[in-house]
Amino acid sequence: MIETKNSDTFIDEVKDQVVEWRRFLHQNPELSFEEEKTSQFVFDTLQSFGGLEVSQPTKTSVMARLIGKQPGKVLAMRADMDALPINEENDFDFISQNRGVMHGCGHDGHTAMLLGAAKVLSQLKEQIQGEVRFIFQHAEEVPPGGAREMVAAGVMDGVDEVIGIHLMSFLPIGKIGLLSGPATANSDTFDITIFGKGGHSSQPEAAVDPIAIGSQVVNNLQHIVARNFDPQEKLVVSVTKFHGGTANNVIPDTVKLGGTVRNFSQEVREEVPRLMEKIVKGVTEAHGASCQLDYQFGYSSIVNNHELTKKVEGMVQEKFGNDYVEHLPPAMGSEDFSAFSQKAPGCFILVGARNEEKGIVHPHHHPRFTVDEDALAIGVKIFVNAPFELLG
Ligand code: NI
Repeated sequence: MIETKNSDTFIDEVKDQVVEWRRFLHQNPELSFEEEKTSQFVFDTLQSFGGLEVSQPTKTSVMARLIGKQPGKVLAMRADMDALPINEENDFDFISQNRGVMHGCGHDGHTAMLLGAAKVLSQLKEQIQGEVRFIFQHAEEVPPGGAREMVAAGVMDGVDEVIGIHLMSFLPIGKIGLLSGPATANSDTFDITIFGKGGHSSQPEAAVDPIAIGSQVVNNLQHIVARNFDPQEKLVVSVTKFHGGTANNVIPDTVKLGGTVRNFSQEVREEVPRLMEKIVKGVTEAHGASCQLDYQFGYSSIVNNHELTKKVEGMVQEKFGNDYVEHLPPAMGSEDFSAFSQKAPGCFILVGARNEEKGIVHPHHHPRFTVDEDALAIGVKIFVNAPFELLG
């Protein structure tokens, strides 16, 4: 068992450096699958701590293993490293130097926090039982995502438990969001092409109008949510693309539709594309057109393990106090942390980073998004305590 005073002192010592790392990463954002400088920085920084086995499971990801003196279980802790194609509009002095690319989701903070924890835990190596595995993941923002690749490269082999942290702009600083069970949605996408027959707009009888038929398809797809599933079931079907036509007096040959489906259960997930196929085929055929449906399964729902989440909650109460705990409802968002937590019991922890007094209020992926940097020390403290509190 670790002395709280002891680890808190180490965390205090690394706090300012974590802020510096976060600002450096913020200034040097890289897009998904292109995190070359970022991963090199993470690799070199981890190497400098000493006592870690550092490797690159894929081209732009990093893993570090801290193997304790005594045998025991393996805890994996994950941070993501990629940025977004956004033109930053913040006015602080460490804004993105890579125009058009921005850390607009807080992954700079995640990476800095996990680096901070790796530094502290390397100093506490003597007290560690088992292994702590630090996973610095590339490409969280773009499906199919980096997590699957890292799992395929073996980073979860032998892991007993896995945790991850996300800084959250909707949650005020001083709150740690937890929930047991399904936390984020299954996130799938679809593309539909409707093949009609083009013609003159004044002679619709000689054409098969894919725009009129496409409109029917959009309306009928809403029946999936409204009429095919239990109203208690959480399900979204959104048509977000409708492309077709080139001129006011021409009925086009084809239109293309596309969109998103979100839900929480595997049964619903598998049923939606079957219904969609039936509806799209039925409507288009009824009107003399034909269709093609491409359905892509994206990130799976994160299902937080009940026992592990209870242990995390106990740790938060003990190390931060009761008022830090915020029980949250499931969110329709998606995260590829699920690829790790499908391999071992997992818990995804949300750390409040909103601060209205400081004007830190913008949502994730907004050009003025940022985090209250005081939240970084909270994340470090969770990561530092986790190996001692969760594995025992
Ligand atoms: Ni994110």
